[in-house]
Amino acid sequence: MSTAPTGHRIARAPGRVNLIGDHTDYTGGLVFPMAVDRWTEIRFQPAERVELTSADEPDPVSLPLRVDDPTSVSPHWGRYVAGVVSEMAPSHGIRGQVTTTIPIGGGMSSSHALEVAVALALGFEGTVVELAQLTQRAENRSSGVPTGIMDQFSIAGGVAGHALLMDCGALTIEPVPLPDDAEVVVMFIAHRTLVGSAYTDRVHECAAAEQQIGPLRSASSAEAASIDDPVVRKRAMHVVAENQRVLDFAAALRNGDLSAAGHLMVASHNSLRDLYETSTPVMDAAVQQLCATPGVWGARMTGGGFGGCVVALTQPGALTDGWVVHAVDGATIVEDDEAREAEGR
Ligand code: GLA
Repeated sequence: MSTAPTGHRIARAPGRVNLIGDHTDYTGGLVFPMAVDRWTEIRFQPAERVELTSADEPDPVSLPLRVDDPTSVSPHWGRYVAGVVSEMAPSHGIRGQVTTTIPIGGGMSSSHALEVAVALALGFEGTVVELAQLTQRAENRSSGVPTGIMDQFSIAGGVAGHALLMDCGALTIEPVPLPDDAEVVVMFIAHRTLVGSAYTDRVHECAAAEQQIGPLRSASSAEAASIDDPVVRKRAMHVVAENQRVLDFAAALRNGDLSAAGHLMVASHNSLRDLYETSTPVMDAAVQQLCATPGVWGARMTGGGFGGCVVALTQPGALTDGWVVHAVDGATIVEDDEAREAEGR
């Protein structure tokens, strides 16, 4: 294979998995994700429009540099691209090819990685926070679901070898080293989409809780427990306790107390199941089975819920199924030859 410079560049964005802290980001709370070693890449060169093909999709995307309504774009995967184009209104386009090693629709943020990669390929300039905010707006516009900032922020701000203690209110990231003697394993359980799911209801229920007791981020569990409406009360109790669990989990990792970390993961899952009601019987059964496996410290559903993935913290080699993932740096642009060299291609 020729190694001569091609003039192409590659925008590369990793997937993410959240270790603990779910459904806390859209009330400015704490989450604990990591960017993982699966990537979406766009190999591109400048062009007048935005023209992308994908190794995983039959139909290409072709868009002008101004898009008003990303939700009307076809094919469907083009909506993620269109959301970014509509937010950026770029001064030039790109022609390129998308490939990914992130399982599509598998709960590891393949669509968010695409959005971040598109923004970089279109020449985004700014901070990690600005990149995360732009691609979150793009996602909200193209999907119509008011998702939080965790996914895009972890993809943009990943740190190799570290999980990210992320404050979604202050928009800060504190990298916490992952212990060498533990593995993070992700298992895909069931396909899901947040469009049309109860995700939006949960966002509204949290807003209702905040109307009664103020910001959930600073609320106490006693305040959450004082909410009149029983459903809103349960949602608030989850969020308040989950924020604390993120802090406790980060402390447990720092102390090398993996058993405590595992227990916190299970407590988080049970709370998502019982109080937040975003799990499913199939996910519950998967978590239960994992937790009964020797060498597994803990497991939980991860991400938006209603399907998707479970994540487990294990002794090395404890599980033979699933994807062992490693924490990597956030999204970046690489020159074509540099990328090939790094991968020994
Ligand atoms: C989805 C959203 C995130 C976050 C999680 C739940 O992944 O995109 O913003 O709310 O659900 O923690």
